[in-house]
Amino acid sequence: MQTDFVTRNSTKLWDGRFSEATDSFVEAFTASVSFDQVLAKYDIEGSIAHATMLEAVGIITSNELAAIKSGLEEILQDVEAGDFEWSVALEDVHMNIEHALTVRIGDVGKTLHTGRSRNDQVATDIRLYLRHEIDQILTGIRQLQSGILDLAEKNLETIMPGLTHLQVAQPIVFAHHLMAWFEMIDRDHERLLDCRKRVNVMPLGAAALAGTSFPIDRKLTARLLGFDKISANSLDAVSDRDFAIEFMAAASLLMMHLSRWSEELILWSSPQFDYIELPDRFCTGSSIMPQKKNPDVPELVRGKTGRVYGSLISLLTVMKGQPLAYNKDNQEDKEPLFDTVITLLLCLTAFADMIPAIIPKVENMRNATLRGYATATDLTDYLVRQGITFRDAHDVVGKLVAQAIKEGKDLSELSLAELRSESPSIEKDVFTILTLEGSVQARNHPGGTAPKLVAKAIRVARKKIR
Ligand code: ARG
Repeated sequence: MQTDFVTRNSTKLWDGRFSEATDSFVEAFTASVSFDQVLAKYDIEGSIAHATMLEAVGIITSNELAAIKSGLEEILQDVEAGDFEWSVALEDVHMNIEHALTVRIGDVGKTLHTGRSRNDQVATDIRLYLRHEIDQILTGIRQLQSGILDLAEKNLETIMPGLTHLQVAQPIVFAHHLMAWFEMIDRDHERLLDCRKRVNVMPLGAAALAGTSFPIDRKLTARLLGFDKISANSLDAVSDRDFAIEFMAAASLLMMHLSRWSEELILWSSPQFDYIELPDRFCTGSSIMPQKKNPDVPELVRGKTGRVYGSLISLLTVMKGQPLAYNKDNQEDKEPLFDTVITLLLCLTAFADMIPAIIPKVENMRNATLRGYATATDLTDYLVRQGITFRDAHDVVGKLVAQAIKEGKDLSELSLAELRSESPSIEKDVFTILTLEGSVQARNHPGGTAPKLVAKAIRVARKKIR
């Protein structure tokens, strides 16, 4: 392919029709290179695939392809080594790389942009980037899940209070509580996997907005880049960022889950609860109060949830007023997206390290369960089995709880005579169901807290994440 013989003074790749230089503020204001250089690897991957396709359909020669390929590979090496000089005057990652290619290999570099636009190029880059990051996050979730299972396996018999309204409700085993966490992020895993399908669609070929007049082979490029599909409409392909919003919504849900756990870890490690010990390496001290050991890691995860929600709202708002097709507004997709990815990976790493290292204070958990009349429902159920209606049984047990509170005793510490004073249907066998072990063992249906069933749930979960 021939190139224009006109020598150009400007570094810009688009100013043929301009008669004055860009205002320096405008240049800096519109540039994205300070943050979109993260995409360099994917930009180069996309360009190599695009050039390979251009050669396959006869738009460039095999010598030209070879020069482009080796030039781009050298540029990637420079970028990765931190030796690439990014220029704000060249606006973004795409034009920096294209310009560097031409400096390196000469006019052949100018053929690379044939049949594409930065609009389909940037949409492709973000999708390649996000696909890679989703895969990292999916691996991170599996690691965290495996840590949960390790801790749960060791705590099948560890009894703790199950709470509603933050008040003692019924006894559960710690493993059951942990498996609730497992289920939450298992759905997050599912959501991200599903989102990945819509990320993995190739926009390249849409060019600026309407497609290109060159005889491109989009399916070939898609195959080279590992995309499952090509986009069906060029206007949609260059302009929508719904796939990124969907990712950020899934990310927000995942952060919401991590934030809830954080809240529990913070409460549990306080002297008021004292259910767990977080190893020192996950905590920090106070500069003034020598006694303090603060649960900074979960606190920070809880705090970082806010910025992920904020990013989701940013991008939703960036998109809501845009007419078809590409608008410069779309450049604002990157920082919230990158920040979400980084934040999520950091929080997952923190949790994957911290969760299996939690040290439960088994005695404290048990004593807290004994203090809260956690077996009152078991006594009610017992009376129902003795033929009393549920409402009447509820009333009887309520009175017994009031009496136990007055005497400072647990229900199991009331004498048979005291228990029978409210209901003659109570027999000696009641004491087995008033124990914490009896209570958890009784809930032995799928989804219940009986240790046997929880052990089974752990086995099923292990297989699932393998
Ligand atoms: N830096 C731009 C972005 O991130 C690349 C696409 C620019 N396209 C354009 N027509 N100005 O969206």
